[in-house]
Amino acid sequence: MSKALEKAREYENKKTGSIPENHRPVFHFSAPAGWLNDPNGFGDFMGEHHLFFQYNPYDVHWDTMHWGHAKSQDFIKWEYLPTALAPDEDYDRKGVFSGGAVEKDGKHYLLYTGVREITDETGKKVIRQEQCLAEGDGLDYRKAACNPVITADMLPEGSSLEDFRDPKLWKENGRFYTAVGSRPADGSGQILLYSSEDLHHWEFCTVLARCQNQYGKMWECPDFFPLDGKRILIVSPQDMQAKDLEFHNGNGNIFLIGDYDKTSMDYRWDMAQSCDYGLDFYAAQTMETEGGRRIMIGWMQSWDNHLFQPELGWSGQFTIPRELFIRDGRVCQNPVKELEDYRVDPVEHKNVLLGKELTALPGVKGRCIDMTVEIEAGESDAVEIRLAENKDFYSSVLYNPRENTVMFDRTYSGFCRDFISSRTMKVRDRGGKLALRILLDRYSCEIFANDGEQAMTSLLFSSGECSGIRFRSKGKASISVSKYEIKVSR
Ligand code: FRU
Repeated sequence: MSKALEKAREYENKKTGSIPENHRPVFHFSAPAGWLNDPNGFGDFMGEHHLFFQYNPYDVHWDTMHWGHAKSQDFIKWEYLPTALAPDEDYDRKGVFSGGAVEKDGKHYLLYTGVREITDETGKKVIRQEQCLAEGDGLDYRKAACNPVITADMLPEGSSLEDFRDPKLWKENGRFYTAVGSRPADGSGQILLYSSEDLHHWEFCTVLARCQNQYGKMWECPDFFPLDGKRILIVSPQDMQAKDLEFHNGNGNIFLIGDYDKTSMDYRWDMAQSCDYGLDFYAAQTMETEGGRRIMIGWMQSWDNHLFQPELGWSGQFTIPRELFIRDGRVCQNPVKELEDYRVDPVEHKNVLLGKELTALPGVKGRCIDMTVEIEAGESDAVEIRLAENKDFYSSVLYNPRENTVMFDRTYSGFCRDFISSRTMKVRDRGGKLALRILLDRYSCEIFANDGEQAMTSLLFSSGECSGIRFRSKGKASISVSKYEIKVSR
């Protein structure tokens, strides 16, 4: 084991143990120590779900990246494993960036981006990114002697040598494939497809999709998979421009929905949809379970608007893993069904009439909850759900049945920094009916509208005593509420 890996493992071991359980989310994955961003290598190995992540164990800020590691039987309870990869070779000294994993002949293979710095012919220091392989047993990994396995000379002409990263790895029709983010000469993004028989020798296949400066610029963190008869390409574009309520400025995350001809490797997409409409969601990656479910997990934080509490000793969480499916031409997502095994203390209220006074309902409160609110707006102009409330603070979910919008607003949630605090999404017009499933954990709020039609994910750092929930409506409306506490024993 290299010195760098040994040091990271020793450090995280000490640090992780010193972070009290009640300084962590109850049912969301959080960085063992230090900083975490993108999920990596999400997939099964030897019958267990493995999850790696972009990781700087030493500080709550991004720095030279490692791959952290964890595993789970059910997507909810995760076991931290020792750091899998450290930046300890010449070809990855500047970082072990994002990538994917597959199982082959009983071994676990990781494909990642090795980042190095070189001095170019003009004497300037420049970055180079190439794809590298590591092989392991689910705990310890050895980097391939022939690294990097996908090199800059395998790029289409004119592509950037600095932006070539995030290989997602999968097996299809007996071959291995990887989709990699790249930047063509027009300065925007493109996704490249490579294939291999043995994971060590790769060939360039095609440019799967081109951004053409339409959806942001550089496309990071691709994923490419079949779903209900369609083919989905997930990309994480940088430098997006806001468009109506569909896309916001900065780093976005989108589903491209299309069709793929496996023989000609021709991919055509005709629809782009936001993966998530909240304030904190990026770099989503998926895996397929043995039973054929497609599960997506995302980094629950924003690059630009980076909200965290340094005193917690960690920064970075993942969303609840979500099962994807297509309905009415849209990619929909609901929390994995395994979460239901952790529901306790059910509370139910049917057809409660709301007026302009804020109303609490018996038993409806809490900070680690799974709650569904079915709204019949009737003549109402606005229905508000206040969450994480105490006498000073609250956050709101605001439904406007006239405009068919839902806004999440954390302005009054208790933080005293000038962060972006609210975001609004358009929901389908169902004549004033709306179903919202809300997952609230110590440090986050995820909202699923109309049985997974949209998700809206945001961080929330209100203190634990903010556990009140109240409702009100401008004009008469009726709601039915079902609520559970989520309890995860360690
Ligand atoms: C996306 C990203 C990836 C890169 C990683 C570095 O969030 O920028 O493109 O591999 O983060 O940590």
